Amino acid sequence: MGLEPFTRDSTIFQDENVLRDSHTPQTLIERDEELMAYQSALRPVVNGAQPKNLFLYGQTGVGKTLATKLVLERLSTDLESMKDVDLHTVFLNCKSLSSSYQVAANLINEFRQPDDKIKTTGYPTGMINQMLWDHLNDLEATHCLIVLDEVDSIGNDDDILYQVPRANDNNLVESTQIGVIGISNDFTFRDNLSARVKDSLCDEEILFSPYDANQLRRILEQRSGKAFHEDVLDENVIPLAAAFAGQSSGSARQALRRLYKAGDLARDEDAEMVTERHVREADRAVERDKVWEELLRVPTHSKLTLYALLVLEAEDELPAKRSAIYKRYRIAANQIDIDPRTDRTVHDRLSQLTLKGFLDVEEKNKGPKGGSYYQYQFSIRSELVTEALSEDSRARDLFE
Ligand SMILES: Nc1ncnc2c1ncn2[C@@H]1O[C@H](COP(=O)(O)OP(=O)(O)O)[C@@H](O)[C@H]1O
Ligand SMILES: [Mg+2]
Repeated sequence: MGLEPFTRDSTIFQDENVLRDSHTPQTLIERDEELMAYQSALRPVVNGAQPKNLFLYGQTGVGKTLATKLVLERLSTDLESMKDVDLHTVFLNCKSLSSSYQVAANLINEFRQPDDKIKTTGYPTGMINQMLWDHLNDLEATHCLIVLDEVDSIGNDDDILYQVPRANDNNLVESTQIGVIGISNDFTFRDNLSARVKDSLCDEEILFSPYDANQLRRILEQRSGKAFHEDVLDENVIPLAAAFAGQSSGSARQALRRLYKAGDLARDEDAEMVTERHVREADRAVERDKVWEELLRVPTHSKLTLYALLVLEAEDELPAKRSAIYKRYRIAANQIDIDPRTDRTVHDRLSQLTLKGFLDVEEKNKGPKGGSYYQYQFSIRSELVTEALSEDSRARDLFE
């Protein structure tokens, strides 16, 4: 049969871009309390006072990044009429950064022109920090808000989250008042912040909880008006997509994906309408993709931990205890020149991987003397893990 002609579809989507991740809606619905807390924490800026440092947390897809964009846009707009406050904002996504050093280096580059960027490795830490203070001191602005999104990826190496929020108090930056907004997708990251970081970063904390099916339904309804032609969604489509996403994650991103995919499947079939069946198929497809994407996104030390389990699997030693996993983890880290973290870190990584549904954990009793220990194994196909690690620029070297 060969290729078919590309034809414009006119029946299902009106504007499918509205369902994509790259689309930024103008309003955040179902988050009034969080927005109120957010605006209240930033109010000192409007009064010309020192900003509070803020920590936002909650799993992925619950509106943290969108809320931040909308609140900061609004703040900038409202400040235009206030001549005595001049706000500079910096937004850095830390997803691929694994240390405070890398965050500092990338922040420096946010202040530099494209042809003047520094290399993000090789400087002494003291020098990198000084460069950052210099840029902040050079700012004309009275205030600077620094957003560090997905900052959990720096793990325990969290010194920057002490340094920057304290830059004014420690007289490192004087002419501009600095505020930091740290955002984390990972609960264990918040629990494990060192005491001094908690103390300086978390003037205010805002938890974004998962959405329930009703909230997801309203988010989808809001989006679908623009995305789809009128009357192409069967009445069960949105409730069902919302229910699936509500059960599996409470993430608006996951709900939108299901709706988009369902429309896509209907279009591929040249169907007149999107039906419940399309949503059910979309749900299965999206779940598969989600596991894959999350695997790609786990932090470096989680990837090394997964690699340790792959080694144990090859040795036919799964399920395995933490001590056995830690041993393989250290070997793997050394093999690719990454400083191994403590046993405690690997313990946290294992809990996180279990929470995300990549691993199964089983409690074993030691016998009459009491005490128990945990054994871990994969709960997803290990080939998927191998493939995902091979996509990682550093972890891939482990397979050579
Ligand atoms: N309350 C909401 N109203 C409308 N859209 C939302 C809402 N919450 C999340 N979204 C959408 O869901 C997706 C994920 O939101 P995002 O802010 O990126 O989540 P997070 O940063 O918590 O991972 C984005 O496409 C966003 O536009
Ligand atoms: Mg985000």
